[in-house]
Amino acid sequence: MGFEVRPLAPIGAEICGLALGRGLADADFEDLRRTIVEHGVVVLHDQHLTPAQHVALGRRFGEPERGAFNEDTPDPELILLTNRGRDGQILPADDVRMRLVNINEGWHTDSSFRPIPATFSLFAAVVVPPVGGDTFFASLRVAWEALTPTEQDSVRGLVGLHDYKKAFLRFGSTVPGNPIFDLPVVRHPLVRRHPESGETTLYTSEHVMGIEGMTDDEARPILERLLRVAIAPERVYRHTFRVGDLVIWDNRHMIHRAQGFDQEHVRVMHHVRIAGTEPVVAA
Ligand SMILES: [Fe+2]
Repeated sequence: MGFEVRPLAPIGAEICGLALGRGLADADFEDLRRTIVEHGVVVLHDQHLTPAQHVALGRRFGEPERGAFNEDTPDPELILLTNRGRDGQILPADDVRMRLVNINEGWHTDSSFRPIPATFSLFAAVVVPPVGGDTFFASLRVAWEALTPTEQDSVRGLVGLHDYKKAFLRFGSTVPGNPIFDLPVVRHPLVRRHPESGETTLYTSEHVMGIEGMTDDEARPILERLLRVAIAPERVYRHTFRVGDLVIWDNRHMIHRAQGFDQEHVRVMHHVRIAGTEPVVAA
């Protein structure tokens, strides 16, 4: 391999010896992609990619999703996450762009509101606050393996209801009339097969607000139990960003959440999210 892989604790890996802005040989790209699938999340320091380089790297994983959440983005395939307006001023807390960020403070997989959710996410730190703004990662594959066989049997075949409207309400962020706050419920298997590794993983998050065929009272304890297993502190990797960090994860078996931070400080992140090509397959 043309780079070094240093495992992080308890999950994930740091990749050393790659300068992605200078390009990446096909063989190294394939090794990088395999490493991400294997470890779930990888961290590369000191990359400092331009938006064009970031999008070009993303395109090697697949077609980037479009539909930026922030119209100021320098590229329609790059999601600009910032608390700073075009005029350089900190955005007010009730600005729609700020409210869209709030939902990311719940554990989630990217774009599970789509019938075909995202595969990889490439997240780069451009400006970071002095404290806060970390991202937490947990493995839904590890969570599946941590369940007892009886628990596994009890959830296999169930369908999770990914309900962004309810999730936004839960995290206190709604703006009436904004279509992104009013997405239809999407069904995905609660236990899935990873299309590349073939491994079984859970597919749950705090955006799964119910289970098909169950009342909320029946579904809630099951969903809470699954999440509790997944995000047990000893299973979570916490990443504190440095400027220039590029973090790439595989949404097909990882969940993550954002940590809030003091909005007096500026934070600018660039995000390219790769569209999936096939529906989620039940395991
Ligand atoms: Fe996310």
